[in-house]
Amino acid sequence: MIPRPRKMKFTEGIAAKGVPVKEQICPELGVEEYCIHISPEQILLKGSPGIGLFYARTTLEQLRMIYGEELPCMEIEDGPAYSYRSFQIDCARHYFSVDELKKMIRMSAEFKLNHFHWHISDDQGFRLESRRYPRLHEISSVRAGDHFGNYHSDQKSGGYYTRDEVKDIVDYCGNLGIEVVPEIDMPGHVTAILAAYPELSCLGEPVEVGMKAGIFKELFCAGKEETFTFIEMLLDDLLEIFPGKYFHIGGDEAPKERWKACPRCQKRMEEEGLKNAQELQGYFCNRIASYLRAKGRIPIVWNEAVYGGNVDKEVAVQLWTEDKDNQIKAHLDKGGKAILAMVDHCYCDYPYGMHSLKDMYELEVSPAEFGEDGGEAVLGAECLVWTEFIRENERLEELCWPRFAASAEVGWCGKARSEYGDFRDRLTKLFPLFEKYGVHATKPEGWDPDEETAARQTEEFQMNFSEEDREEARRAQEDI
Ligand code: ACM
Ligand code: ZN
Repeated sequence: MIPRPRKMKFTEGIAAKGVPVKEQICPELGVEEYCIHISPEQILLKGSPGIGLFYARTTLEQLRMIYGEELPCMEIEDGPAYSYRSFQIDCARHYFSVDELKKMIRMSAEFKLNHFHWHISDDQGFRLESRRYPRLHEISSVRAGDHFGNYHSDQKSGGYYTRDEVKDIVDYCGNLGIEVVPEIDMPGHVTAILAAYPELSCLGEPVEVGMKAGIFKELFCAGKEETFTFIEMLLDDLLEIFPGKYFHIGGDEAPKERWKACPRCQKRMEEEGLKNAQELQGYFCNRIASYLRAKGRIPIVWNEAVYGGNVDKEVAVQLWTEDKDNQIKAHLDKGGKAILAMVDHCYCDYPYGMHSLKDMYELEVSPAEFGEDGGEAVLGAECLVWTEFIRENERLEELCWPRFAASAEVGWCGKARSEYGDFRDRLTKLFPLFEKYGVHATKPEGWDPDEETAARQTEEFQMNFSEEDREEARRAQEDI
């Protein structure tokens, strides 16, 4: 089974085809916990109120897939190591239909993932209907062409999710025990928003919705009060349709060139006693985070947002790069929480030859650099897919599956997970699950490519970036 149950013991006998399945809600079980007792007389599923029974049914479905109609008698007691087991889909770089998202969500629920991190705003598109700021769906959701890597098109493209569609997705997820965590990335990755509201940038000059990959220069101006008013009103609008506990406010890849040259941003730094532009990002993040916290939400940011050292500890940090100068450690030492999403392990937009299934499975869940009880700070893990180079549903699916399943087991089993070989064997037996849900998963021969295949896939992937792109990315990284 995947994820592998915490405790499982075979007992005497067989439960023949047709033995009754009984269900029982047990308030004494912890959140997300469930038990299964299979005896010759009956199959008894017990679950915590809420999602426990659904998880028990999911496990039973997998048992039937493995053993067929006649099940060996057994006792299972199960529950997760981490409460935050997440998958992220970038719908900003490319729009994916509600049906496609539901397929991805349904498949994720099968492996007991419980948060859908929905990346819906970036340089290349803003993907929600906004009642308060309609130009966001009218202008920010459409770009004039696509120039991602080797792919070029001068066709307009875009799309956005209506408020009803968002509610539909949120409800669909809710029934599967999944909380939707929307992400409005800021202060960088906002070119699409600025295309509709250019007055919110430092220069206030017109920009167009992004048409290529990379790191863009324009940020929200941190010196203008109007920026904060805009964001707060936008959030008010969104909080109505996203009822979950967590809200992601981005914070990655925000080069500081504009802020350093902006008199308003400089004035803000002086007034607030901020020593550098990274501290200004911390200030920016804290203002939005405290707005969300006052509304009962837990804000999440990417790790760059804590580089200034002044982000409130109540803001959870999502780790994707290494800790440059121990700033992440400092945030966790203050009591901050972390979500693990390391680029080399968890990013499914890279081919398997660059980040194999094994790499995903072998994510370190209590990194030594967090200190002795660093593991305590970990809320969970996330698998991600960025979609600059993914335009088709099938490609999305084969890149994510089965890597998302490996991440699900990391989050469910934590340090107690088994050897990779054991995981692979179990996954091979459960492969028909992907067929059942119509998901184009990568077949076993593609999970851990040999050196030659890996080199070819790496070369193909690298062809998406010119030498100039690489140089530009290096320069931008230095200023983050
Ligand atoms: C990221 O990959 N820019 C979070
Ligand atoms: Zn500014």
